[in-house]
Amino acid sequence: MNSYDEQVKLAFDPEEFRREGRKVVDQLADFLAASNSEINPIVYPYEDPDKMFESWADRFGAAPSTPFPDLLPEILARSNNLLHPRFIGHQCTTALPLAALAGFVGQFLNNGSAVYEMGPVNVAMERRIIRWMAGLAGFGPDADGIFTSGGSSGNLTALLAARQAAASGNVWRGGVGSEPPLAVLVSAQCHYSIRRSVAVMGLGEDAVVPVAVDERFHMTAEGFDRAMDEAERRGRRPFALVANGCSTATGSYDDLEKAADWAESRGLWLHVDGAHGAAALLSPKYRALLRGLHRADSFIWDAHKNMLMPALITAVVFREGGHSYEAFSQKASYLFEKSAADEWYNYAHRTMECTKTMMGMRLFASLAAYGTDFFAGYITAMYDLTREFARRLRATGDFETAVEPESNIICFRYLKAGESDIDGLQRRIRRALLERGRFYIVQTELAGRMWLRCTLINPRTTAADLDALMDEIRTVAR
Ligand SMILES: Cc1ncc(COP(=O)(O)O)c(C=O)c1O
Repeated sequence: MNSYDEQVKLAFDPEEFRREGRKVVDQLADFLAASNSEINPIVYPYEDPDKMFESWADRFGAAPSTPFPDLLPEILARSNNLLHPRFIGHQCTTALPLAALAGFVGQFLNNGSAVYEMGPVNVAMERRIIRWMAGLAGFGPDADGIFTSGGSSGNLTALLAARQAAASGNVWRGGVGSEPPLAVLVSAQCHYSIRRSVAVMGLGEDAVVPVAVDERFHMTAEGFDRAMDEAERRGRRPFALVANGCSTATGSYDDLEKAADWAESRGLWLHVDGAHGAAALLSPKYRALLRGLHRADSFIWDAHKNMLMPALITAVVFREGGHSYEAFSQKASYLFEKSAADEWYNYAHRTMECTKTMMGMRLFASLAAYGTDFFAGYITAMYDLTREFARRLRATGDFETAVEPESNIICFRYLKAGESDIDGLQRRIRRALLERGRFYIVQTELAGRMWLRCTLINPRTTAADLDALMDEIRTVAR
């Protein structure tokens, strides 16, 4: 047998797989056990990007160089550790180890799910979850939707459907030139993916008309009217309003009842970007933050943010499910036999992607294993902890918060006595924290001022970790 044949045999050898798999899972379990400050204080071992890139040079070639279990220790040691309770930076969550295992099974089976036959179990599980989410949102039996790879793609999908529903002709066929100039009214605090989606749709960034927000970063009633006037001034016809549930920078929830009232009165499609905040629907204590969501035409919900799932899993849910077939009005005869709406199970009709990962299966497996109450408890605990952190920050006298947190996102800053450049100080603190590696937090600009920003997204983070963060900030600020 030549060496290629031998390699194929070895690559698919069940016993070799069992041995390698055990080595990998053992290393991951050890890594998890060490992911806490008593054993390993380092969350993120920062390395300069160019040096990092250089260090991976010449590490593979024509012949095998490193068995995966031998490469893994270095990957683990040099990665950002989202499992660490002191990872409190971005909204990308620590993954439930079980969900990671389910993800591994998804990669192993590799059922692409573009069409039913490529991933039958996953296709059915996705629809079960979409129905469950639609029910939580208060949508009726006509609701439907799909999963897509991330919130950015989800927002684009919803806005494409909104445009198709609002357009007088058929933009899909005739292109944007076949329509009078359109506009989308968006919270001034919207995620950049909204702006990007509108530009990708060929409408131009000028089509994005911001709606002013108040001091707590919620869209205002006057903001709606002024944005409408501004769209008119630009010679554009708005077709959608995008509200936050909740915003990225400060985690603020727009008043969805007010947004729905206003959108309805103007005949606009209401899309709610719930990438981060829709998971509050799970919590009896916090679901009122999304009051009015049942009146939205569409919303998105990222399970890789506030549902402890490995990236990426985004649900795009439509109140009138028929709209989910309008975003991509296209036919590929080698994939589809019937019209899109006759084939709910061939998801590629309704997604930007053709092949998708088995994302619904990861979430379904986790919901089945832990129960929905577990996720409800998680949201409640994280939102409670963030409010407690705000209380502690304010009690110190040397920190201030930007706004009272509404979700598990919090912006704050350190006020060092005698410091004239408070914005520069926050930048220096964040840089120093990054280089020390004991906490991972981020920063954001709000109304021209610089703030430190945390997302309390790891269920193993405690109030003691947050006290330690305040001490660390004081230390580096000195
Ligand atoms: C409100 C909001 N929408 C959309 C996105 C984009 O999501 P993704 O990173 O999954 O593309 C984010 C990401 O932070 C977000 O906070």
